[in-house]
Amino acid sequence: CGIVGYIGTQTASGILLEGLRKLEYRGYDSAGIATVWEGKLHRVRAKGKLFNLQSKLEGEELPGFVGIGHTRWATHGKPEEHNAHPHFDMTGQVAVVQNGIIENYRELREELRQRGYEFVTETDTEVIPNLVAECLQTMRQNGEVDSLYSPLTEAVRRVVQQLEGAFAIVVLAADYADEIVVARQQAPLVLGFGQGEFFCASDVPAILPYTHAVVPLENGEMATLSPLGVEVYTFAGDRLKKHPHRLTSTSLTTEKQGFKHFMLKEIYEQPSVVRTCLESYVNSEWTAASSTNPINLGLPDDLYTDLEQIHIVACGTSWHASLVGKHLLEQLAQVPSQVHYASEFRYALPPLTPNTLLIGVTQSGETADTLSAIHSEKDRRASLSAAYQPRLLGITNRLQSTLTRLVDSVIDTHAGIEIGVAATKTFIAQLMAFYCLSLDLAYRRQTVSPTRLEELLKQLWQLPTQLEALLETQEKRIEELAHEFVETQDFIFLGRGINFPIALEGALKLKEISYIHAEGYPAGEMKHGPIALLDEKVPVVAIAMPGSVYEKVLSNAQEAKARDARLIGVMPPSDPHAAEVFNDLLPVPEVDELLSPLLTVIPLQFLAYHIAARRGLDVDQPRNLAKSVTVE
Ligand code: G6P
Repeated sequence: CGIVGYIGTQTASGILLEGLRKLEYRGYDSAGIATVWEGKLHRVRAKGKLFNLQSKLEGEELPGFVGIGHTRWATHGKPEEHNAHPHFDMTGQVAVVQNGIIENYRELREELRQRGYEFVTETDTEVIPNLVAECLQTMRQNGEVDSLYSPLTEAVRRVVQQLEGAFAIVVLAADYADEIVVARQQAPLVLGFGQGEFFCASDVPAILPYTHAVVPLENGEMATLSPLGVEVYTFAGDRLKKHPHRLTSTSLTTEKQGFKHFMLKEIYEQPSVVRTCLESYVNSEWTAASSTNPINLGLPDDLYTDLEQIHIVACGTSWHASLVGKHLLEQLAQVPSQVHYASEFRYALPPLTPNTLLIGVTQSGETADTLSAIHSEKDRRASLSAAYQPRLLGITNRLQSTLTRLVDSVIDTHAGIEIGVAATKTFIAQLMAFYCLSLDLAYRRQTVSPTRLEELLKQLWQLPTQLEALLETQEKRIEELAHEFVETQDFIFLGRGINFPIALEGALKLKEISYIHAEGYPAGEMKHGPIALLDEKVPVVAIAMPGSVYEKVLSNAQEAKARDARLIGVMPPSDPHAAEVFNDLLPVPEVDELLSPLLTVIPLQFLAYHIAARRGLDVDQPRNLAKSVTVE
């Protein structure tokens, strides 16, 4: 979900709507805004995408210079208008927007019911405005006046102590028109400092048009925003000193720049992302005769000392990048490595081993499953001896995210912010981070010869140009091919070795944006079950890159062809005999097999994009998904 709050001298509703537009990638099944004006709360909400709220607001001006807004990704309660945020208390005095899940909301709701409160939604959020309203009333009745905090701050402070789970909340009250109170516990919230106006939001794009001065709140912190300034406290009530820092806007561009969709724009940004990664981390002058490490990730030495094991936690597309990463770390650097679904990790922790590195990979830097997995590892190792101390590394493009603050070190993948929900440029950037890390480790551990290293680096430097050429020459062809699959219901993607994760990623891209059922399999595994699915209606995409598994993949592809499947090959056209196996080709340049995922993923992104676009679907905001999933 995306939340935003504004207090200042301008009409709040326009700024809130604009902020929500920038956060819509975080959830888009309903949206709403509330403001305070003349001692009353005003609210407009709408089911569905933000433009529904926008059209409603055109007919219904929301007055006021203070307000809160929300764009929802439903967890509790269907995406109907009555479940949309902001939620009011029973008397309409307090409004709340929330991101996250209140795990003990049932108990809290039952207790409130017993005290006469009534509920009109199925959400977990609705308990919060009621608890705040009740607390304000009790304080008033008892004549409690605390000169340190405003009554609203104090009420929110007491209420957050009763809440369990992960949440970021923003609270507004009819009687306190000159303040907004916010609190953060395991869900992102950043404060923005303008001139005589202050902002809060789930993510910086909502704030950037107005100010580049921000303070991210930490877990267990809350703040009161008034037209005069911002005060930050701990949940225990201690005042905190915070210094805003300045954001650079270059990596945070959130406009389509002439492309039809963000996803297409982001596909086209990939060559420059790869180039920036190389320029940031790889010495371009390096040769086998050099006596220094060609890679400089700026990571502390103790991260590498006596390294014995690596665990990687991630979700979705980042999990696929991690599978490629595992292959590289094991094959290049000889470090035993395992990839875990972050959501599974904490419930079956791997045995404690010494000198173990945990890598969290996430484009948003906010995925709750990934953050919790890292927390579990950090907690269980905290009191152990030196060799067992947690070593935590993050791989992300969002340096301002919660991930960065949780781990010891970060590799910035330099992808910048990604808006299309289906990840493309952040995926290739995560791959680049793994290439750099594996080559760095390989150099340190001397597991790869200098000549082999030089060859790999030479090919890596050629990649940005190869990617540019691939994008330019192939899009049209793939678009035409994609149009033939608009009615297709199932797809199979096959890959082996380092390209098996790319088969998974190709299938995920297609599922996410075109809603076509797709499965990725290791090509050799197809004969052990999935082959039963094949007939002339099920196209099979096989990634067949020259190298250790080339012949085997071609045989596996033949097995599919023998079952009448239409065969699409992702392969270099250099082997015309092999190319004849396929009904259609998605040609990619020939490179070292180890580097091939950086190229083979491109046609699969185009294929998914053009099938979805032709089906007239909402490519950037596919149904039921969100870009940043801050609930477990
Ligand atoms: C969501 C998105 C996926 C993404 C996954 C992990 O489910 O819809 O596209 O791959 O989260 O996101 P992360 O930010 O952790 O990479």
